[in-house]
Amino acid sequence: MLNGKRILLVIGGGIAAFKSLELIRLIRKSGGSVTPVLTRAAQEFVTPLSASALAADKVYTDLFDLTDEAEMGHIELSRSADLVVVCPATADFIAKMAGGHADDLASTLLMATDTPVMIAPAMNVRMWLHPANQRNIATLKADGIARTGPDEGDMACGEFGPGRLAEPQDILDAILARLANGPLSGKHIILTSGPTHEPIDPVRYIANRSSGAQGAALASALVRLGARVSFITGPATVPPPPGVAVTRVETADQMLNAVQAVLPADAAIFAAAVADWHVTDASTGKIKKDKTGKPPALKLAENPDILATVAKMKNRPGLVIGFAAETDDVLANATAKRKRKGCDWIVANDVSPETGIMGGDENAVTVIDDNGAETWPRAAKHDVARRLAGRIAEALK
Ligand code: CTP
Repeated sequence: MLNGKRILLVIGGGIAAFKSLELIRLIRKSGGSVTPVLTRAAQEFVTPLSASALAADKVYTDLFDLTDEAEMGHIELSRSADLVVVCPATADFIAKMAGGHADDLASTLLMATDTPVMIAPAMNVRMWLHPANQRNIATLKADGIARTGPDEGDMACGEFGPGRLAEPQDILDAILARLANGPLSGKHIILTSGPTHEPIDPVRYIANRSSGAQGAALASALVRLGARVSFITGPATVPPPPGVAVTRVETADQMLNAVQAVLPADAAIFAAAVADWHVTDASTGKIKKDKTGKPPALKLAENPDILATVAKMKNRPGLVIGFAAETDDVLANATAKRKRKGCDWIVANDVSPETGIMGGDENAVTVIDDNGAETWPRAAKHDVARRLAGRIAEALK
């Protein structure tokens, strides 16, 4: 939650400006307050009145509004916020920021502020990729300005590619990651997610159907409660949420190394569907078909068990949580797995194809700990994540 945190929201002039209104609503719903500042161009896309109505606050538009200067000077306006968010940040506005211009209220505020700044860029794909814009983005990064997005996808101009404004919910998550003072503030949580890929040769690999959806939802729920999340992910189809420190890996071996590199932690959650085996003699060249029609024999060896390894370490996190993907005897198998792996909790789920859970949007889990098993009703993976994050926050109190 944002619990009274103040956001100064600079709305730039682009077709995505209307989405900043949704962002205002989400920030306020999270308990934060918003003071909107509209550039002249932004007023072509959204009216000051709608921004003001949603923010329930005065909207600032012009540097030379003397009444405003009497009420609150631009220096004070820029410094009374906990975070300045520029959304959408257009190519032109980004260029102004990178060049240190101060020729209107919005750019002057950004020059005068000593508060952290975050931008959410939105522009045509060619503009985003243009060397001048990329140079400006690199300058802002070097200046310590945080960035969310842009996303890749269909754009209002009919083209496809990077440049689309990040979803308002994702921008809110990034804001929460910086400002939230929830029950997990100050806690470091490691989270593994997605499948692993174990190479057979340079073009083929052993994999599984994990999309990484449950791991990504859980990361986002933990961030919302204020946790610092180290998110270690295999090649998942669902992207990592904003606000987490991402390490991308491919194999189980790499995942174990990445986890060990970010220890110590208050909790570690192993939501990854790690491949159980790797090919011992993975070929460095592409394996060709045998002329006799004989298929190649793959020699497999067991992968390190990341969860069991971490659970047995001396500097083990205080709370270690595993997932158990089962198709038969879910409860019995998961209970045995918890013991065998030495984790504190195990979150069991039935991944039989008829449940549609693996790769789907919903999950039905049973959480097993020292006190027994607790079965939760089937729900959206995001809801399961929120409930689990709440239970983790209770346990880490
Ligand atoms: N896990 C892990 N490293 C592995 C295998 C699994 O960290 N090499 C973790 C998973 O992230 C999960 C838990 O162990 O939290 C259980 O994973 P699961 O695939 O259900 O169990 P397995 O150990 O693979 O056991 P089995 O295949 O016999 O069911």
